[in-house]
Amino acid sequence: MSSSFGPGKVILLGEHGVVYGHPALAAPLTVGVTATARPADGCRLVVPQGLPPVQAAQLEEAFGRAALQVGAPSVEVSLKSALPVSMGLGSSAAVAVALSRALLTASDQPASVAAVCKLAFGMEQVFHGKPSGVDHTTSARGELLRFRRAGTRVQVRAVKAKVPFGLVVVLLGQRPPTKATVAALRERQARWPTRYERLFAAMGKGVDEGVAAIESGDLEALGDVMNVNQGLLGALGLSSARIDGVVGLLRGAGAWGAKLTGAGGDGGALLALGPKPEALRRAMKRQGLQSFVTRIGT
Ligand code: PMV
Repeated sequence: MSSSFGPGKVILLGEHGVVYGHPALAAPLTVGVTATARPADGCRLVVPQGLPPVQAAQLEEAFGRAALQVGAPSVEVSLKSALPVSMGLGSSAAVAVALSRALLTASDQPASVAAVCKLAFGMEQVFHGKPSGVDHTTSARGELLRFRRAGTRVQVRAVKAKVPFGLVVVLLGQRPPTKATVAALRERQARWPTRYERLFAAMGKGVDEGVAAIESGDLEALGDVMNVNQGLLGALGLSSARIDGVVGLLRGAGAWGAKLTGAGGDGGALLALGPKPEALRRAMKRQGLQSFVTRIGT
């Protein structure tokens, strides 16, 4: 029996812009998905109970494809997740990375970052259509990184935080699937490409300003970039009154910056950065909202 892990992730800056060739900044979470492989008479996946039929079918298809690519080793793989699904915390990418590691190991192939990324990307394409790849790359590498995809070319750079910091992750609840939100934005972008490109480009510039702020330890500047990023996500039609309300509460409670993270829509997860992460978490608790603090750069 062997266990393989795939961490979840948060996108600090640049979600959606990253689909259009601009950079994003993302970090792994400590929580994620564990895949356990046991010897069996064929190659199969135990689909987690309670998964809606559409997601269960996608998971089986993704697993089947990846299994074929590594020669369908004789193992039965089961999954255990500590990540909420459909929240923007990269649960599908964590599943893809954990399964890829499990399948590569079971077929006696090196589970290198490159091999895991290749296999996991195929699975993410089943889940999301045409993902940028930022989610599974962050999960596979397990480090804070600047990610950019230009066509088929991927640029990844590890970002080193001068000062480690805590980010508060607030859980609002389930939101529409990433695939649907990305497709709806694609329609607006295709109708009005010049206007939308201006917003994506501004977001991409913010990512590099955010990277510089992290590398120089200027967390207030990072918070400010997060606020601007949230404004741009709102302009792209990806926020909601509920998200904006909680963003306002977080800023009122002392956050330097607060924004949605991931695909957006009404729900999902928010990120907040401030001098006292625990105080922000308590402020959320008083509002009846679940949150946790994740450490970046440690
Ligand atoms: O599925 P989520 O919420 O982690 O969002 C993925 C990030 C997007 O930029 C919205 C999509 C992508 O492919 O990068």
